[in-house]
Amino acid sequence: MARPRGTLIVFEGLDRSGKSTQCERLVSHLRQEGHDAQHMRFPNRTTPIGQMINNYLSGLAQTEDHVIHLLFSANRWESAAEIERLISEGTTVVIDRYYYSGMAYTAAKGNPDMDLNWCRHPEVGLPRPDLCLFLDVSTEVAMSRGGYGAERYEKREMQDRVRELFRDMRDHHDERSDIVLVDANRSIEDVAAEINDLVGLTMQQVAKSGQPLRKV
Ligand code: TMP
Ligand code: MG
Repeated sequence: MARPRGTLIVFEGLDRSGKSTQCERLVSHLRQEGHDAQHMRFPNRTTPIGQMINNYLSGLAQTEDHVIHLLFSANRWESAAEIERLISEGTTVVIDRYYYSGMAYTAAKGNPDMDLNWCRHPEVGLPRPDLCLFLDVSTEVAMSRGGYGAERYEKREMQDRVRELFRDMRDHHDERSDIVLVDANRSIEDVAAEINDLVGLTMQQVAKSGQPLRKV
């Protein structure tokens, strides 16, 4: 019998919500359980497009709003075939930020021509996650975890707008059926335990249903 496909898991949330910590813990947990698991993150700053994004985020470059949106999307497209390959080989892929961030952060700029619907278009056709874990943290808890750094977008006003747009996405958009809210105001261990359960259930469903990897 052919090996079942891997599962595509995404972590989303505001800056300082604990995504990177929880991604690492989940990958270790899955490997301990005997699964193949691979960690990825977006933006992937190692490619030429990723370097342009890094220059923009660090303030070294000014980039027009549509252009940077399309670069973030292109940065996902340059990894799309690899994600599909890993999943088809039976590896579970755990991604730190994906197109949900792409939509919310650009739409949060408030340009009326770039609402969530517009922002979604370049993402259509990307591998679609089986589960998007949204780590929900209050601004107070996020700030108490060391606050925000010096990168563009790491400002309270912007974070508040992004939070609202993530909420819109969870309530009204195509994304809503994939997103599960996780209360990330708790300890690392408590959050990790809930995540392990949610991911375990999704992996069982994927294996049982035989449903192929979908597309955005
Ligand atoms: P990071 O802190 O996870 O490396 O992400 C860098 C910033 O880029 C973060 O503020 C969120 C933002 N971002 C976008 O604006 N669009 C995107 O598509 C992604 C993946 C991140
Ligand atoms: Mg950051």
